[in-house]
Amino acid sequence: MAEQKSWQARISEATDALAQDFVESISYDNRLYRQDIAGSIAHAKMLSKVGLITEDEEVSIIAGLKLIQEDFAAGKIALDKSQEDIHMVVEAELIRRIGEPARKLHTARSRNDQVALDLALWIRQSSMEVAKRLHDLCRALVEMAGRSTEIVMPSYTHMQRAQPIVAAAECLAWCQMFKRDADRCATAGYMTTTNDSPLGSGAVAGSSMPTDSAYVAELLRFDGPPVSSIEQTACRDQALEMLFALSMAAMHMSRLAEQWVIYSSTEFSFIKIADKYTTGSSMMPQKRNPDMLELIRGRCGCVYGDLMALLTICKGLPIGYNRDLQEDKRILFRAYDTVMSCVTMAAAIVSTANFVKENIEPTLDRGFLDATSLAEYLVTKRIAFRTAHQIVGSLVAECEKKGLKALGQLKVEDFVVAATSRGADGSRIGKDVYECLGAANVVKRYKSAGAAGGEPLKKALADWHKKLVAPVGVEQTIEIEMG
Ligand code: ARG
Repeated sequence: MAEQKSWQARISEATDALAQDFVESISYDNRLYRQDIAGSIAHAKMLSKVGLITEDEEVSIIAGLKLIQEDFAAGKIALDKSQEDIHMVVEAELIRRIGEPARKLHTARSRNDQVALDLALWIRQSSMEVAKRLHDLCRALVEMAGRSTEIVMPSYTHMQRAQPIVAAAECLAWCQMFKRDADRCATAGYMTTTNDSPLGSGAVAGSSMPTDSAYVAELLRFDGPPVSSIEQTACRDQALEMLFALSMAAMHMSRLAEQWVIYSSTEFSFIKIADKYTTGSSMMPQKRNPDMLELIRGRCGCVYGDLMALLTICKGLPIGYNRDLQEDKRILFRAYDTVMSCVTMAAAIVSTANFVKENIEPTLDRGFLDATSLAEYLVTKRIAFRTAHQIVGSLVAECEKKGLKALGQLKVEDFVVAATSRGADGSRIGKDVYECLGAANVVKRYKSAGAAGGEPLKKALADWHKKLVAPVGVEQTIEIEMG
């Protein structure tokens, strides 16, 4: 027989079975049992400190809660839907086990501040887990960069051939995005504006009991007690910040996935994904499809949906707690699980993927990738960049007219004539012009900070190795030290 609900006295009939199933959240918020118990232990310590329960009662409550936590971990706690949520299940279980002292635990507390606290603690820890996983992805990309330092490839803007780059630089570009995602997730664990404990807010207005919520805040490592009991039970900003951080990470992964779907096509063949991360077709025997990448790209849509869902839920809510907010957990857990599995999959794919030098390098003579390098060479010969741009533009057109594939096929005189015909002094142009032509030469000449080759790239690679050795953020734990 199910226990009576803690609030049953006011209601004249038992909750309808349909309504009970409709309203419950224990089927998913049981995931918060550790946070809920940590919050209850802190609350019990505070109640004892201010004399609202005795020390013996505190000891018995804490011992009971710890055993419940162990039983939860061992899957031994029945998730009784008639108890609605994790807060009621833990309380009912404690009352069943230790009796009267447990009936005092909810003094000056409501499920409204309890759930806000549990969620804050969960976000603090989980956002760090995502950050760590994103660091693994960064490490995989830096390692791939390390294996790609001898490969020159085209870069693209507008998906048209742009300038030559070292393939390693493209790996580091992705790495930079995911490192920022990791940092964004780690900071979402703490409210950017405030990191105050919700516990002590009660249902909405606080309590007339002589509580010490600053002590609770300290035990649970918040900056301070609630600043506004009304706001802190009504607010889901931190959950939204985490959803936004997850959406950004999902968006970046989707871009990487899209890029590699293109690169692994027959038309490009720039990247080889390990066979174990491809699938075949049920009908076409020759197929080798990048389904895992496609699902990473597709699931980004689900994470955006989760961000939109919670934003939309919050938009219509009057201040104070409203039950609509219960959906926050279903949404946040789903987005977290999706992103965690996508990051793990992406890191595995990256760690076994390689650029295919033999397919990329023969294509480098297409698209006049060295045109910008030639314009910069002319600048070193004291020709204004705008004029140099026009000279090279006309040379590219000339090559196309003559059926030449590359600027390097022109003679020194051709460069001089083109310069002179644009009113520039071409007299300084010599044989050294060929040193700036050809993709392999071009990438060696890059000097600007963050450039995709040359010394800047070597430095970037070395810097990334150093950066990724450091652990992500501060290790978070919600265990309360027993004093
Ligand atoms: N299960 C609820 C939630 O997740 C807890 C708070 C319910 N409070 C209430 N007064 N009905 O939001």
